[in-house]
Amino acid sequence: MDQMNTYVGIVGAGPAGLFLSLLLAREGIGSIVLECRSREEVETTIRAGVLEQGTMDLMDELGVGERMHREGAVHRGIELRFDGAGHRIDLSGLTDGRAIALYAQHEVLKDLIAANLRDGREIFFGISEVRLSEITSPKPRIQFKRNGEEVTIECAFVAGCDGYHGVTRLAIPASRLTSYSRVYPFGWLGILMEAPPSSDELIYGYHERGFALVSTRNPKLQRMYIQCDAEDDIERWTDEAILEELQRRLVTADGWRLRVGPVTSKTIVAMRSVVTEPMQFGRLFLAGDAAHIVPATGAKGLNLAISDVWHLSRGLARFAKQSSSDLLESYSGHCLRRVWRTEHFSWWMTSMLHRFPDDDAFQQRLRRSQLEYTVRSRAASTSLAENYVGQPFDW
Ligand code: APR
Ligand code: PHB
Repeated sequence: MDQMNTYVGIVGAGPAGLFLSLLLAREGIGSIVLECRSREEVETTIRAGVLEQGTMDLMDELGVGERMHREGAVHRGIELRFDGAGHRIDLSGLTDGRAIALYAQHEVLKDLIAANLRDGREIFFGISEVRLSEITSPKPRIQFKRNGEEVTIECAFVAGCDGYHGVTRLAIPASRLTSYSRVYPFGWLGILMEAPPSSDELIYGYHERGFALVSTRNPKLQRMYIQCDAEDDIERWTDEAILEELQRRLVTADGWRLRVGPVTSKTIVAMRSVVTEPMQFGRLFLAGDAAHIVPATGAKGLNLAISDVWHLSRGLARFAKQSSSDLLESYSGHCLRRVWRTEHFSWWMTSMLHRFPDDDAFQQRLRRSQLEYTVRSRAASTSLAENYVGQPFDW
């Protein structure tokens, strides 16, 4: 049986786990990352691709922003489209020059993995059967299987960065956790399409047939979504039907046309909001999707995971260097303030832009009024913009 030691055992090589190992390394703190999937799978799974200004800045600070600047695109506005007309929200003009970057999550992960491995830090891919023990003692242990062998890591802290379906949260007694959630009565059907961009900026469209979103990956590959039934079977949707639906929902009075090409991928994602409180038990700290998830509207998941581990790295560094646990004790409270702000924003965008099965005429009038207010009032546009580009991590 193998036995290893490290200061922080990190479970999960998603955005939370990989950013955390880099942030800790910057503080001179050692960590080992454990991941059940293969490196190849982690580096190719398609997720969202919007980086808040703070995420971009942190990539630069950590020295992993070079490819993002070269291959990603900075966007300074988004469009809200409804009733056949588009309305630009000037993100930068309303937020003192802040912006977002369009750069796919798996590209971020490639950059983080490369940086960690280049600097000689351990990431164990393809491990299984992760179990935590002694998490209320000063020496928690992580056991797992690697190449069929049983391995034990003794550490000072465990970071649960293993996403919504992970195991670390289950190590906390259920009686100590409270979970708040909302399941939306629809899903998103997402496609990748080999075509030139149909728009210079993202388009969030509301139509009585449902929500539609035009996003992008690069000049040759586009990302689009339409609201679909939660129980929809992806096989029922032909490529032609998806493209036709996008065009119908995004129609404008002046004849806007979607630029089309071969569809190379299609999936349906569920839409949910969940928050688990608190985000800590003993020496186990939860971060990212392990503690909370947001619906995809606004693409906040990755950014929220990163603000969590930014707080966690500060708390761990303070403890390691000054033997003070104050920032670790306030970790959950600090994270949750920003988590709930983001939960509210994602829920609000989702509510404003989708058709709900129980909508009545009154509800639809209210939604239309909310959309008009958001694009016509500077105060309302500014509120959308500051949430969209992201609050500071220590908000
Ligand atoms: N053992 C080891 N690794 C695990 C285990 C386990 N038992 N369970 C899950 N993992 C891994 C997953 O394979 C995944 O690579 O943990 C990682 C968790 O990554 P994410 O789900 O991406 O979560 P997080 O890092 O918090 O990032 C949140 O990323 O995937 C998006 O939609 C998500 O935008 C959100 C953001
Ligand atoms: C994406 O590009 O995948 C994306 C963009 C914006 C969103 C959600 C997803 O709100």
